[in-house]
Amino acid sequence: MLELALNSLDAGATLVEIKVAGKYGKYTLTVADNGCGMDDHVLARCSDEGFSTKGSTGKGLSQLYAASDGKVKIFSRKGVGTSVTAEFSKAESGDVGASIIVVVADGADVTLDWRVGEGFTFDSRDFKRAFDDISRPETLAKIKKTINHNIRLNGGAML
Ligand SMILES: Nc1ncnc2c1ncn2[C@@H]1O[C@H](COP(=O)(O)OP(=O)(O)O)[C@@H](O)[C@H]1O
Ligand SMILES: [Mg+2]
Repeated sequence: MLELALNSLDAGATLVEIKVAGKYGKYTLTVADNGCGMDDHVLARCSDEGFSTKGSTGKGLSQLYAASDGKVKIFSRKGVGTSVTAEFSKAESGDVGASIIVVVADGADVTLDWRVGEGFTFDSRDFKRAFDDISRPETLAKIKKTINHNIRLNGGAML
């Protein structure tokens, strides 16, 4: 999840929408953004190992393919945004709360739609209204704790 969120931030996204859905043994992760998007050339090559338009490692998407047995769907439009969906049979989401606050700290808005167990949602814009400065370390720590707590209550143990 973090790799995908970082790709969205690198693409200049101001909104990152994350969804996790599924049940034991099979779940999907979707990260959608309103960043710069990809043209057809980049889209065709983005999941090649070592391909990067940022002079970076180019491993994020190729590792995602490997981790999800190729069950990855990428939609992207130049100037509009990108959406990446991956299917997993086991935990690949990492520390979700930590990934979320990386986006918040960057100044972008982020939503989490957690559809495992009873499910819950998080929208950083709600926190923005409630706190003076959402990017303060104490506030970020509180957000991370709240999200990971909710995940533990909502099937998080399976992930
Ligand atoms: N969310 C995104 N928005 C726009 N372009 C993206 C996005 N995700 C990936 N890309 C493109 O795909 C390339 C490969 O991504 P990735 O495998 O994560 O490698 P890296 O991030 O190291 O460049 C990126 O360099 C970028 O051009
Ligand atoms: Mg990357």
